Amino acid sequence: MLRLIAKLHGIEPQETPDYGLDVPKLAKGTAVFGVLSSAVVVAHVVGFISTGMFLTLRSLTDLPLDELLVLTASSVLAILAFLVSGFIFWSSKRGKFHMRDRVIAGLKLRGDEQVLDVGCGNGLLLIGAAQKLTTGTAVGVDIFDENLESHNSRDSVLHNARLSGVGNRVEVHNADARELPFEDASFDVVTSSLMFHHLNKADRETAVQQMLRVLKPGGKLVIVEVAFVGRLRKLLREYGGTAVKRAPLGLPVYKQIVATK
Ligand SMILES: C[S@@+](CC[C@H](N)C(=O)[O-])C[C@H]1O[C@@H](n2cnc3c(N)ncnc32)[C@H](O)[C@@H]1O
Repeated sequence: MLRLIAKLHGIEPQETPDYGLDVPKLAKGTAVFGVLSSAVVVAHVVGFISTGMFLTLRSLTDLPLDELLVLTASSVLAILAFLVSGFIFWSSKRGKFHMRDRVIAGLKLRGDEQVLDVGCGNGLLLIGAAQKLTTGTAVGVDIFDENLESHNSRDSVLHNARLSGVGNRVEVHNADARELPFEDASFDVVTSSLMFHHLNKADRETAVQQMLRVLKPGGKLVIVEVAFVGRLRKLLREYGGTAVKRAPLGLPVYKQIVATK
């Protein structure tokens, strides 16, 4: 809409990076489900009003049991669905940006580092890191599963990097966290945000091993997650991570784990 208005006024709107929507089918599916469940509630309430039933009610428990069950279940489902979809939209369009800024600030990059972001999606953390680099390189890997992040692709990351002015400092590989295509001890910093909860137990373990393998001794590893945080800390200690600890991000939904090697 804003683009259309700008065009009508002869202004060419500036393209900005688009970091996509997490789990897009779930986000949109729950939103639609929320609307449908709300429609059921509204239809029942309209029905009560049109039959005059509302006037005779002293409390909701006066309703026939089947009506009460439908109304309660639809209301609860609508609320839950809106909470889930609302959280995903908020996280993708607001919360993750705040999280990125805190993570990047915490890395205290000098500028000459080799940084790896595992499960980089459309490049949110990767590009944030690249913007702090001068001679270093930010490398992103992802299997680019569009069910987990909308329109994620190698081209999308590179496009976002160019729009952010760091096209020359970013490298992207179509690669799996379980088999990182890099030599041992290649990176000063390894990061990953919101990828681990999409992996099963065995894959989480393999990915942690791989991330520690490619990290240089003394290097820093950062994982941001909404789930499995205790287990990830245990795995990091088990596979050679030291000084493994939680570092607050200001928003309680995201948990940051930092470790060194
Ligand atoms: C919710 S998105 C998060 C993307 C990005 N890190 C961010 O915070 O915006 C999860 C990403 O993990 C990627 N992913 C899932 N399993 C992976 C694996 N085994 N190896 C590499 N990437 C993976 C998905 O393709 C997706 O882009």
